[in-house]
Amino acid sequence: YNHNLKMERSSGLESAICRAKGGAPGFRVAILGAAGGIGQPLSMLMKMNPLVSLLHLYDVANTPGVTSDISHMDTSAVVRGFLGPQQLENALTGMDLVIIPAGVPRKPGMTRDDLFNINAGIVKTLCEGVAKCCSKAIVNIISNPVNSTVPIAAEVFKKSGTYDPRRLLGVTMLDVVRANTFVAEVLGLDPREVDVPVVGGHAGVSILPLLSQMKPTCSFTSEETAYLTSRIQNGGTEVVEAKAGAGSATLSMAYAAVKFADACLRGLRGDANVIECAFVPSTVTELPFFASKVRLGRNGIEEIYPLGPLNESERVGLEMAKKELAGSIEKGVSFATK
Ligand code: NAD
Ligand code: LMR
Repeated sequence: YNHNLKMERSSGLESAICRAKGGAPGFRVAILGAAGGIGQPLSMLMKMNPLVSLLHLYDVANTPGVTSDISHMDTSAVVRGFLGPQQLENALTGMDLVIIPAGVPRKPGMTRDDLFNINAGIVKTLCEGVAKCCSKAIVNIISNPVNSTVPIAAEVFKKSGTYDPRRLLGVTMLDVVRANTFVAEVLGLDPREVDVPVVGGHAGVSILPLLSQMKPTCSFTSEETAYLTSRIQNGGTEVVEAKAGAGSATLSMAYAAVKFADACLRGLRGDANVIECAFVPSTVTELPFFASKVRLGRNGIEEIYPLGPLNESERVGLEMAKKELAGSIEKGVSFATK
């Protein structure tokens, strides 16, 4: 296929990017791990997002095929593929938002922490690239264990002198998506009308749904609370077991990642009241990182909201969540500083 022909007929990529912007801000987004189980549907959905003008797909395997395939979609974002470490810097240069779903997923019987040995190094290397090539970008970390990979990213950025805690976010949106779905099921509501804040972190008991603060306001029996809390905390394991060795959540995760990335982009555009839960550098508790509601804006995180009033079972849950989180955060920090 003669690409030169296309370049002669129009002024090429730059005009396509301008067209994609259509007068409105068009953002440049990179996905690292774009050819994976999450990466592929995430790339497809981001290609459909009208806020994206340029989409960079990076992976260590299979990016040419995924890029070719997605680039045929007749939506405005321009897609470019990058393969292997020698192309990482080109993939990252000029990006406004970097989404990282690179790394191995769980198999039945594993905890997210069992992924640490492989994924910690992957996230470290990719974040070193971000620090070098697009240190002002918003970074969305999906790779597990999120409770450790976000602290690793922070340490990498600190070391390089580029750290801006407002721009680093661990993606816990899937916990919110699950909470909304499971609560709606119990209440017989449309999930789109339900909004459950989920705070803490992204593993086991560190996932703390605040049912007492959900919208619309509802009350639950203690059995309902126990069922919902456990189902939300174990949603990832439910999928891992159903997939029986073929990986973990990918489709619902891609949906959640796009919902979250879109919120980040709307914040960058300057939209008001963009509020989502995320695992971020935080002073909401005594821990250096914690998931809670944050307001997203032109600089990334503009405001982190306090946890608000908790009921008795949530107060107990909070103590358990903090205990679980403390060790994972420490493990990430010491890996990145050693
Ligand atoms: P996958 O194995 O299907 O895909 C991972 C991709 O990462 C592969 O294409 C692989 O080639 C790529 N990769 C590996 N090393 C890389 C590197 N150094 N640079 C760039 N790319 C690299 O896995 P998946 O199902 O897509 O899951 C990816 C990660 O997301 C896992 O760690 C999983 O646990 C995590 N996850 C997180 C959430 C969440 O809520 N935050 C939800 C689901 C999955
Ligand atoms: C999830 O919550 O689905 C992800 O963190 C993947 C996993 O390992 O459970």
